[in-house]
Amino acid sequence: MSEKQGKVYVFDHPLIQHKVSMMRKKETNVKEFREMATEVATLMGYEATRDLPLEDVEIETPMCKTTVKMLKGEDIAIVPILRAGLGFVDGMLALVPNAKVGHVGLYRDPETHMPIEYYCKLPSDIDKRKTFVVDPMLATGGSAIAAIDFIKRRGATDIAFMCLIAAPEGIDALQKAHPDVDIYIAARDERLNEDAYILPGLGDAGDRLYGTK
Ligand code: PRP
Ligand code: URA
Repeated sequence: MSEKQGKVYVFDHPLIQHKVSMMRKKETNVKEFREMATEVATLMGYEATRDLPLEDVEIETPMCKTTVKMLKGEDIAIVPILRAGLGFVDGMLALVPNAKVGHVGLYRDPETHMPIEYYCKLPSDIDKRKTFVVDPMLATGGSAIAAIDFIKRRGATDIAFMCLIAAPEGIDALQKAHPDVDIYIAARDERLNEDAYILPGLGDAGDRLYGTK
């Protein structure tokens, strides 16, 4: 059987676009940035879960018996890439409160821009779950590719990647490395600068979430 072909989805919903634009502004403070990250994660999660399978279930209303649609008990995992990906977890959990949460710790070497792993803890049944890997930024794609490598090695087969802002270089690299993975983004930006930061971007997502600059 041929492998599923992933797609790139750019969410153009006005609320998502507005909030991401606010997050880009340099005067947006840590509290506002963090709150908006949670709000955008919920809005993006709402769109990204559009294809979750439903099943017919018989219930009884106060009036009569009827058949209704309910989620087919699909089990979900959310895997933030530490640390900035943590900013997406609460917003996603607001939609799917029973999801399990794994963590992959990676940081980019400032010289080589290559991802360095420092932590990986995933649900033991990740192979049976639809897994949303979340991180606000897709720059070179190195971190997302490495995180998805780990998750696939643990048996996951149904994986989507969700981020706020992506550079064309990162989208291409991720599609090449993991062609089966759907990519959900709020904005496709222009390019990377010489330090592999996204332009116009929003700066360093981890620093903006946690005030560490
Ligand atoms: C940022 C961001 C991504 C990565 C994207 O994390 O949150 O994980 O860079 O860049 P890439 O696509 O070129 O790999 P960073 O390494 O700054 O770590 P942090 O989240 O701990 O700040
Ligand atoms: N990581 C960030 O946080 N921002 C970028 O623009 C690129 C990588």
